[in-house]
Amino acid sequence: MKLSRRDMFKIGGLAAVTAAGLAIPLGNTVSGATASLLPAGKMPKPFQTTFSRLEVLPPVKTEVDEMGPVAYYDITAKTGAVGIVPGMMTPVLGYDGLVPAKRIDVEQGTRIVMTMRNKLPQSHPTFGTPMPISTHLHGSASLPQYDGYASDVTTPGQKKYYQYPNFQPARTLWYHDHGVHYTAQNAYSGLASQYHLHDARERALLPQGEFDVAITLSDMMFAANGSQLYDDRAHSGLWGDVVLVNGRPWPVMKVKKRIYRFRFLNASLSRSYRPVTSPAAPMYMVGTDGGLAPKSQNISQWRHGSAERYEILIDFSKFKTGQRIELQNLSNPNNRDFDNTNKIMAFDVVDDAFDRNDPTALVVPGALDSSNDVMALTETSGLKVRNIRVQRNDTTNEWNLNGETWHDVVDSGFTKVLANPNLGDTEVWEIENKSGGWFHPVHIHLIDFKILSRNGKPPFAWELGPKDVVYVGEGEKVRLLMKFGPHRGKYMVHCHNLPHEDHDMMHQFSVGLNNGEVDVNDPIYADPASDDTDG
Ligand code: C2O
Ligand code: CU
Repeated sequence: MKLSRRDMFKIGGLAAVTAAGLAIPLGNTVSGATASLLPAGKMPKPFQTTFSRLEVLPPVKTEVDEMGPVAYYDITAKTGAVGIVPGMMTPVLGYDGLVPAKRIDVEQGTRIVMTMRNKLPQSHPTFGTPMPISTHLHGSASLPQYDGYASDVTTPGQKKYYQYPNFQPARTLWYHDHGVHYTAQNAYSGLASQYHLHDARERALLPQGEFDVAITLSDMMFAANGSQLYDDRAHSGLWGDVVLVNGRPWPVMKVKKRIYRFRFLNASLSRSYRPVTSPAAPMYMVGTDGGLAPKSQNISQWRHGSAERYEILIDFSKFKTGQRIELQNLSNPNNRDFDNTNKIMAFDVVDDAFDRNDPTALVVPGALDSSNDVMALTETSGLKVRNIRVQRNDTTNEWNLNGETWHDVVDSGFTKVLANPNLGDTEVWEIENKSGGWFHPVHIHLIDFKILSRNGKPPFAWELGPKDVVYVGEGEKVRLLMKFGPHRGKYMVHCHNLPHEDHDMMHQFSVGLNNGEVDVNDPIYADPASDDTDG
C-alpha cells in the first residue's frame, strides 16, 4: 500500500485512538463501534429519551423608538451541567448556562439589541482552553461590529451589545460562538441555539406553533467520568458517537397525523448527515439557509453539512396510530461512523386531534416565494469570477483558503482580504475542493447566495433556495452567485467544520471599502466589548 502524506496523517490520528483501547478498521469512511470511554452500560442508547423542544427566550424589554419596534435581550455565557449520560452530569458552557440554549423568535421589522455577558471562567472547565467569546448571528446581515468577527472578543468579565436588524426575509438563523481559535470547543460545549425570523409570507404558507419544530443536530463523545471528550484528530474534525437532537440522545417525538415543518440545523462540529425516513414518509424541502425556496421540492433524503439549515415538511397523515418512523442517517464519505450514528431520532404516530381547517395541516404548498432577490439573480457575462481553493497544508497541518489563513489576516493588521467587491456588485465565486479525503461546508458571512452548479451539473433539489453555507464535497467545484450589500465593511468567510475554521481555514472579504479609507464599521474597534459592572 502506497501512503500519501494525508493517509499517514489519518493513520497517525487512528493510532492515537487505538492506543486508547479502541479497535477501528481502516476504510474510506473510517468507522468503529464507539468513541466514548464510558463504563459498560452507561452509553446512551437510541430511542430511550423523549424529544424536547427548544424553549423560547423572552425579551427583557420591548419598545418602539423612532426607527420602529425593538426587543432587548440579556444573555450570560456561563458554565452549567446537563444529564445526557444516564446517572452522570456533563459540565457544559451555555447561554444562561443552558444546553440546549433557548431559541429567539422575532418578527421581521423588529430590531433586537442583545447584551452578551461573558461570565465564563478564564479557562474551559474540561479542556483548559481560554474563554474569550464572540457571538455570531449566522444568517443575519448584521453590521461588521455586530457580526461576531472572530477577533472582536469579549473576555471573561466583559459584555458586548449586539444589534440585529431583522429586515431580511423569514428564515432559520442560529447564534453561536465565533471566538478566535476556540470556536470548536465553545460550540461543542453548548454555545449555540436557533433564532427564528418570521414574516407574513412564511406565516401564511407553512406550519406554525406546535407544528413548526426546531431540530438542532449535534454529536458528542464522552470521557469515563461523563465529561465531554474533545478529540479533533489533529484538526481533521470531531466525530462523536452520540447523536443529540436538541441536546438529547436519539429522542422519540410523538406526531399527529398531519404535516410538520422541521427546521433542521446541523450544529455538529464536523459530522455531515444524510437524513432519510424509514419507513419512507413524504418529505419536501421548503426552505434553506436564507429562507423560503421559490417552490417546494419533493425529496427522499438530503446531504446536510455543518451550519446548513433545511426546512423540511414531513407528512405523517397516511400513517397508522402507533406506527414508528425512524429518521436515519445514511452518512456521507469521510465521516467517522459508530454503532448508532446511523440513527437520528424517531417519530411515533398518535391519533390526537388537530385543527383540520388549518390550511397547512394536510396540503403541501407548491409555489413559495417567487420574489426572493437572490434566487432572481442570473449569471450574465462580464461578472467578476473569483476562484477559491479549499485545501490543507501538509507541512503545517493547517487548513487554508487559497493558501492563506486567519493568521495571515491577523498578521496583516486585518487588512488582507480574499475579495474586495464594491457595494452592490454581483459576483460568481467558484469554490473548489480538489481533495478526495475531505469535505468542507463553506460559509460566507453577510450575503445569501444562489448555487449555480456543482461540477457543471445543477445543484441538488434540496439546495434550490437561498444559501449561506455550501457543501463542497470531495472533488467538487461549486459555482455561487451573490450580490454584495447592504453594508460596507469586512466580513469573514470560512469552513464551518469548526476544527478546520480554528486551524485556520478562515479569511475575510471587504465590501465597498476603498484603500486607506477609515472603516466606520470596523469589526473590532467600532463598538467593542466593555467591562461588565452592572450584571
Ligand atoms: Cu456559523 Cu462564521 O459562522
Ligand atoms: Cu473544512
